[in-house]
Amino acid sequence: MAKITTSTLLKMKQQGEKISTITAYDASFAKLFDQAGIHAILIGDSLGMVLQGQDDTLPVSIDHMVYHTQCVKRGVENTLIISDMPFMSYANLEQALTNAAKLMQAGASMVKMEGGAWLVDTIKALVERGIPVCAHLGLTPQSVNVFGGFKVQGREEAKAQQMIIDAQALEAAGAQLLVLECIPAPLGKAISEAITIPTIGIGAGKDTNGQILVMHDALGISCSYMPKFSRNFLQETGDIKKSIELYISEVSQGNFPGEDHIFK
Ligand code: KIV
Repeated sequence: MAKITTSTLLKMKQQGEKISTITAYDASFAKLFDQAGIHAILIGDSLGMVLQGQDDTLPVSIDHMVYHTQCVKRGVENTLIISDMPFMSYANLEQALTNAAKLMQAGASMVKMEGGAWLVDTIKALVERGIPVCAHLGLTPQSVNVFGGFKVQGREEAKAQQMIIDAQALEAAGAQLLVLECIPAPLGKAISEAITIPTIGIGAGKDTNGQILVMHDALGISCSYMPKFSRNFLQETGDIKKSIELYISEVSQGNFPGEDHIFK
């Protein structure tokens, strides 16, 4: 498999090929996922919940993200590495530039930030300085306290319309990828059609350009519970590498997510 870049993912969207991505936090899993043929690995700040056992992602620091990005980088040959900017690490432009640079120097090829149009100037500044950005809309977990819990977003017409406008603004600012989390499936489709950059869904329906799962959910080893939008691929195969190969093939054939995994 050739090295995967943001251009590869864009081309996949243009050719109607589905993109498979998953989280990883260490070299061993990253190597296995890379060898299975995953297109991108996200070092998610979900590590606060699945590795550290926290209630949410807010306690995760930039130092945690740097450490896990360095670990993942050592396991990866071809996969695109995306690293999450943790809570309050991009609250202003100065912080965003400093912290994004730390993640890129740790081995990331792209950084991810949660938020809508308020991020436009930050994204422009990062891209101008050579740092590719993945945006993230919908249930953005760093805002869990504003949302009053981990709830599906964009159910109301006005909020759905605003999300489409935000997605277009993020693309215009220079974002090259967009994660859509826990939104109704028709909205996932509408946003994917309203922008030219690839969308990667998690609980956003089957019509996004790709899918992402937290690895602990895909393997059924989350310490809390199995989210509605996930599937236990390890239970189906009994082997970790085969689980990821099955996940990739189910995404690529449009079989995952199924009707049971989507919000209407
Ligand atoms: O932190 C994370 O793992 C994420 C994914 C759920 C998209 O942001």
